[in-house]
Amino acid sequence: MSSSLSTRLKYVSLGVLVVQTTSLVLTMRYSRTLKEDGPRYLASSAVVSAELLKILACTLLVFREHNFSVRALNQVLKEEIVNKPMETMKLAVPAGIYTLQNNLLYVALSNLDAATYQVTYQLKILTTALFSVTMLGKRLGCNQWLSLLILMAGVALVQWPAESADASQQTSLSAGFQFVGLMAVLTACFSSGFAGVYFEKILKETKQSVWVRNIQLGLFGFVFGLIGMLMYDGQRVRESGMFQGYNKITFTVVVLQALGGLVIAAVIKYADNILKGFATSLSIIMSTLISYFLLEDFNPTSVFFTGAVLVIAATFLYSLECKSATSSIKV
Ligand code: C5P
Repeated sequence: MSSSLSTRLKYVSLGVLVVQTTSLVLTMRYSRTLKEDGPRYLASSAVVSAELLKILACTLLVFREHNFSVRALNQVLKEEIVNKPMETMKLAVPAGIYTLQNNLLYVALSNLDAATYQVTYQLKILTTALFSVTMLGKRLGCNQWLSLLILMAGVALVQWPAESADASQQTSLSAGFQFVGLMAVLTACFSSGFAGVYFEKILKETKQSVWVRNIQLGLFGFVFGLIGMLMYDGQRVRESGMFQGYNKITFTVVVLQALGGLVIAAVIKYADNILKGFATSLSIIMSTLISYFLLEDFNPTSVFFTGAVLVIAATFLYSLECKSATSSIKV
């Protein structure tokens, strides 16, 4: 692939990630505020549906890569997935970690207020950088480390709660719960950094198509997700089915989540996990501003604007150094 094409793919995939993350946040927020009759959809079922949709979409992409030949598709899936069990098994590691991570985040959200959770989870920007340096041999200059610290501080400020809400939420959570929540979110920061960089290492060190790799990841994600659904919501699934409470908004959330899996894979392939952090940070600012103008459920404070300026400044600072850093990447 020519370098200009891969540069274009890098910025297109980062741009699509910003739009996808922003739409997912807004749709999820909308689906939570929507008052519906009947049972609510099961979150564990939405995870399984998204994995299934991701596998289907990736299979279609592999089909397209092979000029829509059914025979070639069968051959690739058989050769790359069935006949190479050790290669396929490699993907069980990030899939298992992501499943654990989703559960840890659930524990974190049950024991911490949403703002503390979101602010603390930004530490994953630094763990991702640390794993990129240790596992991929990526080298970052002083300016880039500084820009990552500024980015983390900026996102933390953007998500800093308004004083009154914070005080009332803080007192309702005991120190013990806070500690459990904090441990869960800190572990999730490490698992997010490790799983992302591990997937990047697999993608960049082997020749297999990113979509085949994503099918392998999705297969394990689907199996682990199914086990999770049966463990947490088995009774309710047996009573009212897996798709209880699904509506148009649920389908939109599932589609956006599956699309997220595809876009994240493309971003990791054509850019990297560190740039993915910048894209998601920018989308946090975008979704907050859109929800202010459209949903009118947020009042931006001076702390928010300071944070937004820091995130944007960090993005520029990082990309200033990008050229020299890219040339020193070993992978
Ligand atoms: O918070 P973090 O950036 O680590 O979240 C990554 C999310 O993206 C996880 O929920 C994971 O399941 C998903 N993912 C995916 N397909 C990939 C890589 C990540 O669905 N190829």
